Amino acid sequence: MHNEDQLIAAARAARDHAHAPFSKFRVGAAVHAKSGRIFTGCNIENASYGLTICAERVAIFKAISEGEQDFEAIAVVTDADALTPPCGACRQIIWEFCGDVPVILSNLAGKTERERSLNLLPRPFDASHL
Ligand code: THU
Repeated sequence: MHNEDQLIAAARAARDHAHAPFSKFRVGAAVHAKSGRIFTGCNIENASYGLTICAERVAIFKAISEGEQDFEAIAVVTDADALTPPCGACRQIIWEFCGDVPVILSNLAGKTERERSLNLLPRPFDASHL
């Protein structure tokens, strides 16, 4: 079972590495693999804007590239009072790689909310439809 506080702390630390010179909106994410390992990510922006990648996808892609296949939770940390939910693209990636997992939203003040990924992306499209 994942330790929620540990996952939030990892996401918060990853946020320090955010490369967000355009939006100034810094995001950290951490995904807990069933192996027990935690993989982190931050948002990485680009001068062309469209090549920006969100913190959640960085964390998941890092984990996949290290051989992980099963996940039990993902945390997202920003400095926003209204907690930051994953964007649509990240919801698709979370569903396809993590399935129906808790998505833990937290901010620097320590406010925390939880939502299941399937509630964030109802009736998802995935490989079962191909
Ligand atoms: N962003 C994330 O990294 N994750 C989210 O859940 C929401 C948005 C990033 C993308 C961009 O660098 C900045 O936040 C503003 O949209």
